[in-house]
Amino acid sequence: MTACGASSSSSGSSSSNILNSAPAEAANVYKQSCLQCHGGNLEGRMGKDTNLQTIGDNMTKEEIIDKIHNGGKRMPQVGRSMEEGDIDKVAEWLSTLKSNAAESANEPAA
Ligand code: HEC
Repeated sequence: MTACGASSSSSGSSSSNILNSAPAEAANVYKQSCLQCHGGNLEGRMGKDTNLQTIGDNMTKEEIIDKIHNGGKRMPQVGRSMEEGDIDKVAEWLSTLKSNAAESANEPAA
C-alpha cells in the first residue's frame, strides 16, 4: 500500500474500471463514440487491436488524434462526426494510459 494521494473520493465499487477514473468529459466522449467497439473497460470488443487499456505506451496524443480522424484497417473515421474539442479530450486522456502509470519504477538505481 504505497502512495496514490487521490484514491478514493468517489463512491462506488472497488473494481478497477478505467472509465471510472477518467475525466468525466473524456469518459462521456468515449462512451458516445468509442465504447461500442473498444469496450466498457477499454478491453476491446473487436480483438486484441482494440484493447486501449495501455495505449499510452504505444501512441502519443497526436497519434491517437490522427487515428480518430483517419481510422484504421477496420476502424471507421469516427472523427468525422465528432467535435474537435471532444477528440482532443479523449485523446489526451487515452495517451495517459500506461501500463506502469502507477509505479514509474523504471529508474535504474545509480
Ligand atoms: C466501429 C468500431 C470502432 C469505433 C467506433 C472506434 N474504434 Fe478505434 N479501433 C477499431 C478497430 C477495429 C481498431 C483496430 C484495427 C484498426 O486499426 O482498424 C481500432 C484501433 C484503435 C486505436 C489503435 C489501437 C492500437 O493499439 O493500435 C486507437 C488509439 C483507437 N482505435 C481509438 C479510438 C477512439 C479514441 C475512438 C472513439 C473516438 C474509437 N477508436 C472508435 C474500431 C473502432
